[in-house]
Amino acid sequence: MTQKLQRIVVADPAALAVAAAGRMVARIHANSGRIAICLTGGSSPKQLYQLLATDDWSRQIPWGRVHWFIGDERFVPPSDARNNMAVARETFLDRLAPKEHIHPISTDTATPDESAERYERELKSFYGADDLDPKRPLFDFMLLGVGPDGHTASMFPGYPALSETKRWVTGVPQAHVEPFVPRVTLTLPPLASCREMLFEVAGASKRAILDKLSKDESLPANQARSIAGESILLVDRAAVGE
Ligand code: 6PG
Repeated sequence: MTQKLQRIVVADPAALAVAAAGRMVARIHANSGRIAICLTGGSSPKQLYQLLATDDWSRQIPWGRVHWFIGDERFVPPSDARNNMAVARETFLDRLAPKEHIHPISTDTATPDESAERYERELKSFYGADDLDPKRPLFDFMLLGVGPDGHTASMFPGYPALSETKRWVTGVPQAHVEPFVPRVTLTLPPLASCREMLFEVAGASKRAILDKLSKDESLPANQARSIAGESILLVDRAAVGE
């Protein structure tokens, strides 16, 4: 993809969470109307979610104006510890956000594709149109992680979801990495429809894939970029080998 990725290096995972929270809050304050934030799964955002639950940070968020979405979901019930939105809900959303502002991907459908269709309808109704307008991004802030194979959300290398241009959300019958459960993922167009895309990447285990991403343009995490604003790679020193 074409848009540039700006790299910001911070000391450690704690500093990463503070930097991510600061950027999220800045985006919230840059918009005086209704705000849409898309969260992510995996282990990287957990510290950020814990931070948002603290008084210092939660009082900076106008909860009545913010809607919370999720970029991908593992096709397991919310009671399963692997459910992405359940982690965010338990850590901060259920206590702080109005219930009708929390938009999970439901996993009680017969198939991931049915769940994808349902979420796509929800996103389109929230957005108020069936087509994305580059001048009117769907999300104010898009949080993402990077997997060991270069995936982001549940867009795995070589999977058909990557070339999807019409559907906003799609089922992924088989994951490429652990946990090996089916997934439901936003496709590239809605991921890109944001004012800021922030990849949070921490730890020495991410060094190899970051190195690969800097050389192999075709990996999914390189194909996801904000079309309307900034794309940031927020990393800690261990992840970049400093
Ligand atoms: C998921 C994710 C996925 C994740 C990356 C990074 O459901 O697994 O949303 O895209 O962000 O795999 O995961 P870590 O933060 O655990 O490294």
